[in-house]
Amino acid sequence: MSRTKIIDALKSAPGERITVKGWVRAFRSNRFIALNDGSCLNNLQVVVDFENFDEKILKDVTVGAAISVEGNLVESQGKGQAVEVIADTIEILGTANPDEVSKTILQPKRHSLELLREQAHLRFRTQTFSAVFRIRHAMAFAIHKYFNDNGFFYLHSPIITGSDAEGAGEMFRVTNFDLDNIPRTEEGHIDVKEDFFGKETNLTVSGQLEAELGATALGQVYTFGPTFRAENSNTSRHLAEFWMIEPEIAFADLDDDMDLGEDFLKYVIRYALENCMEDLQFLHDREVKLDSQKPQAERNELPLIDRMKFVLENDFERITYTRAIEILRNSKPYKKNKFKFPVEWGVDLASEHERFLVEKHFKKPVILYNYPADIKAFYMRNNEPDEEGRKTVAAMDVLFPGIGEIIGGSQREERFDVLKQKCADFNIPEDHVWWYLDTRRFGTVPHAGFGLGFERLIMFVTGMTNIRDVIPFPRTPKNAEF
Ligand code: 4AD
Ligand code: MG
Repeated sequence: MSRTKIIDALKSAPGERITVKGWVRAFRSNRFIALNDGSCLNNLQVVVDFENFDEKILKDVTVGAAISVEGNLVESQGKGQAVEVIADTIEILGTANPDEVSKTILQPKRHSLELLREQAHLRFRTQTFSAVFRIRHAMAFAIHKYFNDNGFFYLHSPIITGSDAEGAGEMFRVTNFDLDNIPRTEEGHIDVKEDFFGKETNLTVSGQLEAELGATALGQVYTFGPTFRAENSNTSRHLAEFWMIEPEIAFADLDDDMDLGEDFLKYVIRYALENCMEDLQFLHDREVKLDSQKPQAERNELPLIDRMKFVLENDFERITYTRAIEILRNSKPYKKNKFKFPVEWGVDLASEHERFLVEKHFKKPVILYNYPADIKAFYMRNNEPDEEGRKTVAAMDVLFPGIGEIIGGSQREERFDVLKQKCADFNIPEDHVWWYLDTRRFGTVPHAGFGLGFERLIMFVTGMTNIRDVIPFPRTPKNAEF
């Protein structure tokens, strides 16, 4: 089954004899086949001298069909490609009925992203989605490379767990119930305590607490895996199943955490610019074209590649939550009553506020830190109360243009007594987190970490504006067929 990949064929010198295999993207004038095998964005042009070919074979060379072609690589006469293949033999590997193809997104014309989502099982075959998923692959690789090169260990955190890391209660239960014989309590309710072989469990919302166990032994670790949130939110930035990268570093404070977040994001964005240019250019041009059809106010200020470069060239703005509230309250939209949600010390910032800070005020990525303790998770380290006695924690969120929150992190509460008190304040029973508290009992150290939403990063580096378009199989409410 040997073949030359199209990405390599396009770089080869004329004169080589090759076998290429792929899917037909177009067949023009019974003479030019545009062949794609997914290895790269570009098609290889296959030239068919149709008089020398069996008509029966050529009739099956239709859009969507899979074929194998053997022939000589020659210098291309046409523009846009250096080489093409003169076909000697064509073998049909899998036909695709043109009438049926015409009803699908395989039909070569511009389809809306909504339609592509409806046919999500076929959208990999489109240029846009193959570009997005090649970039997604490269980003996953860059993330592992960054951490490996910086002395972090990859820790596999569990997917099934008894802990609710975020304490937000947005969990999917895991059960091995025999549906015909569901255990019930004496009152007749489903006995949830029985669901995982006699233990109450759920799908993980975050690998952080386990990463802390790793970091307080191995020094620097990171997790990279699927996480789950049972929030019924139908937004363009939320999924019920998303991938999260969670580094955790011992002997570190919030400043170290912010430094790591900024350095890491810049590294992976640079990696995309250095390694995915063909796909990026395609998505960049696509965005520019779409933008040109929109009213001025809805257009991106900078197109995709320039946006990415801009992030690399500028320091992220670091400001406290308290300062952000001041800026927002002095802003024009606030004074003109344009914000939908209230702006006062203690509220969780809404996306309209975050967007104002990033896109209008600072016009670059912003790291907000020292949030009110009341709106953040139990494990975040208490700061000294400010002059006005307000309580904050050493938390930080990285906000990106067009995305909003891309990273959420914090320095962790490492003081045993303080953490114990926080568990009590948050109604977290000690016997649920005894194993976590042990890290504070035995050689506790200052430590910090964060979570990067992988799909939000992919949105930033592809310019896609809906999170469903950057994950191969999006899990959103009522969307879990395959
Ligand atoms: O801010 P979050 O909830 O933080 C945590 O889970 C911490 N345990 C992380 C840590 O400190 N180790 O989530 C972190 C990031 C967010 O900034 C966002 O990018 C992404 O995960 N995220 C989501 N992405 C897609 N869909 C959702 N429903 C998401 N919820 C969070
Ligand atoms: Mg968050």
